[in-house]
Amino acid sequence: MRPARPFPMLTRPPLGFGLGLRVDHYEAILAGSPPVDWFEVLTENYLVGGGKPLHYLTRIRERYPVAMHGVSLSIGSSAPLDRAYLKAVRSLADRIEPAWISDHLCWTGIAGRNTHDLLPLPYTEEALAHVAARVREVQDVLGRRILLENVSSYVSFHDSRLSEWEFLAELAARADCLILLDVNNIYVSAVNHGFDPLTYLHAVPAERVQQIHLAGHEDHGDYLVDTHDHPVPDPVWRLYAAALRHVGPVSTMIERDDHIPPLEELCAELGEARRLAARTLGEPQRRTALSA
Ligand SMILES: [Fe+2]
Repeated sequence: MRPARPFPMLTRPPLGFGLGLRVDHYEAILAGSPPVDWFEVLTENYLVGGGKPLHYLTRIRERYPVAMHGVSLSIGSSAPLDRAYLKAVRSLADRIEPAWISDHLCWTGIAGRNTHDLLPLPYTEEALAHVAARVREVQDVLGRRILLENVSSYVSFHDSRLSEWEFLAELAARADCLILLDVNNIYVSAVNHGFDPLTYLHAVPAERVQQIHLAGHEDHGDYLVDTHDHPVPDPVWRLYAAALRHVGPVSTMIERDDHIPPLEELCAELGEARRLAARTLGEPQRRTALSA
C-alpha cells in the first residue's frame, strides 16, 4: 500500500513557458496577450496589504497562472524560522492561489543580519537533518509542498561530505519537497567548482522537478557570475535540452533580474525555449512522474 501523501505532488499538466513578472511589463501584459503561459512573481514584492503592486498582480492573476518565488526563507540558516514572514507568505498565497511556492536551498543571514546573498550550505549529514526538518515545518505552515531551488556558488566548505546533488536529492526525499531546477545555476557552479554539469543533472530526482529556471550569466574567464542580466547562452540551452530528456515536459521560465528588455524580446527568447522543448521531446509529450 502506498503511504498517504499529505499534499498533492506535481502540478499537472505543466504550466508551459513563463516569465518573471516585472514592474516594467505590467502595462504591456495587460494591454495585450503576450505569448506567455504563466508568470513567476517575487513573493517579497507583494507582501503588502494593498497598493499598486498587489493591484497589478490581482489583475494579471485573473488572466494567468502564477507561481510565488521567494528569497527570504533562509531555509539553511540556524536562526529560527521567521514565523511572521511565513504567515505573510501564506496570506498572499491564500489571496492569489499560486500554482506553487518556491524559495532557495541556501541561507541568507544569521543573528538578525541579512547578507542579501543566497549562500551555499556545508553539505553534511548534520545540515541535511537540520534543513529537512525545517522544510517539513515550512510545508506544514504553508499547507503544501514547497520547491527549493539550487543556487549558484563561488565557494564551498571544507566540512562538506556530500556533493551538492547528493544533498539535494536526499533532502527532497527526506523532506518530501519538490525541486526548482535552475539550469544556469548548475552550469555556473559546474564551471566555478570544476564538476560535470551532467553528473549533477542526472542525480536529480526527475519526479520531483516541478519547474526549471533559465537565465544568463557573466563570463569572467576562469569563473562565471550568476548575474541574471544576459540572454540564455548556448551551454545553458544545451543543458536545458539534457534536463528535458531527464525530466520530461516541465514548467519552464526565463529569469531576467537586471537589464530587463522589452516584453517582446523576452517573449522571443521564450519562443526559443518552446522550440527547443518541442524538438527535444517531440509530440505527444509524456511524463512519468509521481502522481497526486
Ligand atoms: Fe533561478
